[in-house]
Amino acid sequence: MDVDLSIKYCGLELKHPFMPGASPMVDSLDTVRQLEDAGASAIVMHSLFEEQIVGEELGMTRAREFGENSPEAAGSYLPDPEGYKLGPDEYLRQIEQIKKAVAVPVIASLNGNHRDAWVRYAKLIEQAGADALELNTYEMTFQLDQTTDAIEKQTVDLVTAVRAATTIPLTVKMLPFFAGLPSLAQRLNKAGAAGLVLFNRTYQPVIDLEELEMSHAYPLSSHDELPLRLRWLGMISPSVQMSLAASGGVYTVDDALRAVMCGAHAVQMVSALLRYGPNHLTTIIDGVREWMTEHEYESVNQMRGSMNIKNCPDPRIYTRWGYIKTLMSWA
Ligand SMILES: Cc1cc2nc3c(=O)[nH]c(=O)nc-3n(C[C@H](O)[C@H](O)[C@H](O)COP(=O)(O)O)c2cc1C
Repeated sequence: MDVDLSIKYCGLELKHPFMPGASPMVDSLDTVRQLEDAGASAIVMHSLFEEQIVGEELGMTRAREFGENSPEAAGSYLPDPEGYKLGPDEYLRQIEQIKKAVAVPVIASLNGNHRDAWVRYAKLIEQAGADALELNTYEMTFQLDQTTDAIEKQTVDLVTAVRAATTIPLTVKMLPFFAGLPSLAQRLNKAGAAGLVLFNRTYQPVIDLEELEMSHAYPLSSHDELPLRLRWLGMISPSVQMSLAASGGVYTVDDALRAVMCGAHAVQMVSALLRYGPNHLTTIIDGVREWMTEHEYESVNQMRGSMNIKNCPDPRIYTRWGYIKTLMSWA
């Protein structure tokens, strides 16, 4: 009997868990078609960044105030205007184009943390035809008076506001730096998020000691990033009533299997596809099917969560016991 890979992710019926994560791959319709041909069960778009929305609006206001070609109008509020291929309007048009180009669901992404921009663009993204929306706050503060509680509340309030304004499924792409991650997950769920993407990556600065310059880290992930995702998937999947997606460090069939076993409904890949091309998705999907057939699994739903904290043979490995044991095992 053929193994059943189909899953439900944030209410979307998908043929299997494996999809490209948010990345510039969606800027080209040819690449999007290649991803679908390679078997992608959904297309996740890169983010529309709040800085783009605010930057464009500020630019327009300044053009009205100072004149079209004034330096003020040109003054950029974008970190790197060249870096964004799609402005806000083009982003919406790209959703429409991708929806026409492929049959699989399209998940758009908004990145920012101000309610007005989020709500406005979430509505437009829904109207443009996106099947779901990933929300990414990327909130890291250096202000002494901004507490963890306040940051968490802001994220929950943002989700509440977008939920009230739209009907498509929402999922939140989170940073891993929350001491009370399960509680936050629960609150996001109550606020209307159907899913979580674990995790957003932070790109650490690189310091050039000779030039005394800071530069950007290389944006592709390494395989070493997966275990952090596995830990949290395994810890929260038995308790939260949400769809979970793994994002970070998935390169191989074994990685993909581990993510599902720890509780992922969906498994997103970016760096591996940027390195090896869209067809790498086929390798993953075929490899997972083959492995599951050999190991006599009937479905991915049956396999999901089999190694989470509730179901794995020794759940203590997820706890302080596992931490102490690891340290003690050093010889
Ligand atoms: C070039 C590049 C662009 C990305 N753009 C976005 C983005 O716009 N929004 C977002 O949420 N994540 C973005 N990401 C992060 C990925 O979606 C993903 O979370 C991260 O790369 C970890 O997954 P990976 O190990 O499979 O690469 C980007 C990653 C890369 C490498």
